[in-house]
Amino acid sequence: MQKIIAANWKMYKTRPEARETAADLYRLLIAEPLSDRRVIVFPSFTNIPDVQEAFAGESTVTVGAQNFYPAAEGPFTGEISLDMLLDLGISQVLTGHSERRHLLGETDDFVASKTALALAGGFSVMLCIGETLAEREAGNLAEVLSSQLRTALPELQGDALSRLTVAYEPIWAIGTGKVAGPAEVLAAHAEVRSLVARIVGDAGRGIPILYGGSVKPGNASMLLGLDNVDGLLVGGASLDVQSFLQIIKA
Ligand code: PGA
Repeated sequence: MQKIIAANWKMYKTRPEARETAADLYRLLIAEPLSDRRVIVFPSFTNIPDVQEAFAGESTVTVGAQNFYPAAEGPFTGEISLDMLLDLGISQVLTGHSERRHLLGETDDFVASKTALALAGGFSVMLCIGETLAEREAGNLAEVLSSQLRTALPELQGDALSRLTVAYEPIWAIGTGKVAGPAEVLAAHAEVRSLVARIVGDAGRGIPILYGGSVKPGNASMLLGLDNVDGLLVGGASLDVQSFLQIIKA
């Protein structure tokens, strides 16, 4: 099965920097095509057209958007709608990232409405879930994952489910250098796999589950070798072409 390797560039890179990173990555991917990898890059809104241009004609790379507001249009100063993303040729979005949940106040319900709206609009959605350290230490891992998935998934059916990817990102491992160990990742991914099957039934079997949180060239291959790890969502290490390429090839 093709593994998905996604780059979340967050609020990094000016236009020239994004253009250069994307052009370098394109050159290296063309030089050594990998049939068992699918790459997704989530640049900031202002860098989307340049990154798309850099990857034009490279069908194994998709450019996605990190965010949007769940309304068709309206008085939402500073927000971007799904139609505005469609105008740019974007059909892949991220929802539920922990930075949006915890720094920008997005609730499980808000994440669910974004996820449902994007899927209903024909978009592919990467839905991020994950627990804080306090929740893990209190023994609430399964409960947190269940609540995040049960709020986001029940309304989804058939065709929408085929466009959904789930990214499990333990919040204590994001940007901290602390990677979840193999046993922790295995257990969490098995939990996510069984929760998804319980919530949406058989249709959920094919939903890819990605791991994210301090993924680096040195741990990518171990992570990709674990059961139920169908890919990786990479933040910091995706900003540098060489390190991201090593993760893609891991
Ligand atoms: P990180 O970020 O790889 O820098 O930990 C992951 C993410 O936020 O998706």
